[in-house]
Amino acid sequence: MDMPHRKLAPGRLVIASHNEGKVREIRALLASFGVEPVSAAALGLPEPPETGTSFVANAELKAMAAADLSGLPALADDSGLVVEALGGDPGIFSARWAGPDKDFGLAMRLVHERLIAEGPEAGRDAHFVCALSLAWPDGHVESFEGRVDGLLAWPPRGIHGFGYDPVFQPLGHTITFGEMDPDAKHAMSHRADAFAKLVAAVF
Ligand code: IMP
Repeated sequence: MDMPHRKLAPGRLVIASHNEGKVREIRALLASFGVEPVSAAALGLPEPPETGTSFVANAELKAMAAADLSGLPALADDSGLVVEALGGDPGIFSARWAGPDKDFGLAMRLVHERLIAEGPEAGRDAHFVCALSLAWPDGHVESFEGRVDGLLAWPPRGIHGFGYDPVFQPLGHTITFGEMDPDAKHAMSHRADAFAKLVAAVF
């Protein structure tokens, strides 16, 4: 039998991310639940190295480190692009494929070149994954995973979004996330899917 989820009480919640964009997005998503988001950066918390081998493992280690150091519940996310024909790459290394300059033009080109190297039979199926983990100072952790399926496009199209958005065409659509109105992307994204699961379980 599944264990019941622990509920999150109203009050302060650390957002264990140093990415201001993510903190803003999470703040908006949690606004109606009586949660007071505090960023890890505002508390001066360090970013632990992402040594996990899965999205959930990385989200859990970030959330647990922040909860332990702050004495407050903490929420962390880890996300990336998974390409079926590349054995799941770039996966948990999605940010790293952009190199030290965070050059996603380079990262998208690398994905394309690796697919070409796989030969003409290589499929273009891909999905984005988002893992969200909520940890408490006593070590309890709840994790949720969301995904959105799609196809890789080449060349990149569109100016919206970030990261790999210009090469990701969600299933059932003829435009990429980069061409899509941001509200439309946010309604169907891997992050929205993971958040819906978290909200249903912990509030
Ligand atoms: P994280 O900050 O370690 O979770 O890295 C996530 C990386 O995955 C980002 O730097 C992006 O490259 C990629 N990624 C995650 N979500 C999206 C998305 O919604 N659109 C485009 N790229 C994404």
